[in-house]
Amino acid sequence: MTHAVPAAQTPAQPAPDSSKALYGGKGTRRITVRDIAAAKERGEKWPMLTAYDAMTASVFDEAGIPVLLVGDSMGNCHLGYESTVPVTLDEMTMLSAAVVRGTKRAMVIGDLPFGSYQEGPTQALRSATRLVKEAGVGAVKLEGGERSAQQIELLVQAGIPVMAHIGLTPQSVNAFGGYPVQGRGEEAAQQLLRDAKAVQNAGAFAVVLELVPAELAAEVTRILHIPTVGIGAGVECDAQVLVWTDFAGMTGGRVPRFVKQYAALRETLGGAAKAFAEDVVGGAYPAPEHSFH
Ligand code: KIV
Repeated sequence: MTHAVPAAQTPAQPAPDSSKALYGGKGTRRITVRDIAAAKERGEKWPMLTAYDAMTASVFDEAGIPVLLVGDSMGNCHLGYESTVPVTLDEMTMLSAAVVRGTKRAMVIGDLPFGSYQEGPTQALRSATRLVKEAGVGAVKLEGGERSAQQIELLVQAGIPVMAHIGLTPQSVNAFGGYPVQGRGEEAAQQLLRDAKAVQNAGAFAVVLELVPAELAAEVTRILHIPTVGIGAGVECDAQVLVWTDFAGMTGGRVPRFVKQYAALRETLGGAAKAFAEDVVGGAYPAPEHSFH
């Protein structure tokens, strides 16, 4: 015989511990892969931004952004290249070290640039080891699903956490012939699902889904036990990443459709430069309070 417990006596469920939240949590130590796994279990969404220098990184760290990616998007956004392809491991190491120095809490992830891991697992381990030892990153990211699984496996065995990146992988821009949406059509969708499972099985702690139909990204997010980080992949992903110069309105010209601009930094900075120039030309700067006698 069973006895129903009156509703009033049902033990209260513990309230979710908001002090542990990735964004808005109280902790001041560095975010780790365990915190990120715990957030997936709690069903908590989190933001990620790129950063390429210490000062910008410190602003995002102070704003509570828990994960900063020193993306090879630095090629387009910071170094003046036309794509991510020319970025070197030396450049990545130097700027990753700057971002680590500028932050206290964020997990800093260094991107493995094109040509630094495609030869195979041993090359990947050598490159990732440099980023961990010389720059102090907490994890690395590399592009590719099934094709990069062996690299991911060796890095994870060596104790280096790996964020994978599938869907549109910009280092393959020459093979793609541009930046088209991936995973459209049955065959492409099945390949994306295989890629997602391959990187999870290889030990990746999270996976970026770039330019993937929202429904397919939602399916991947349901199937995987590691978090998905969307960029142009709809709202169902566990996390969202944007390139900082895009989200802050610093990028000149057209930005991709998936970008929401939260500021107009290019206009603000351009306005400040013009105001300074006019003050100098007109003799209004420096004023007496800016001068020494
Ligand atoms: O390099 C980068 O910034 C990236 C993100 C767009 C995910 O890979």
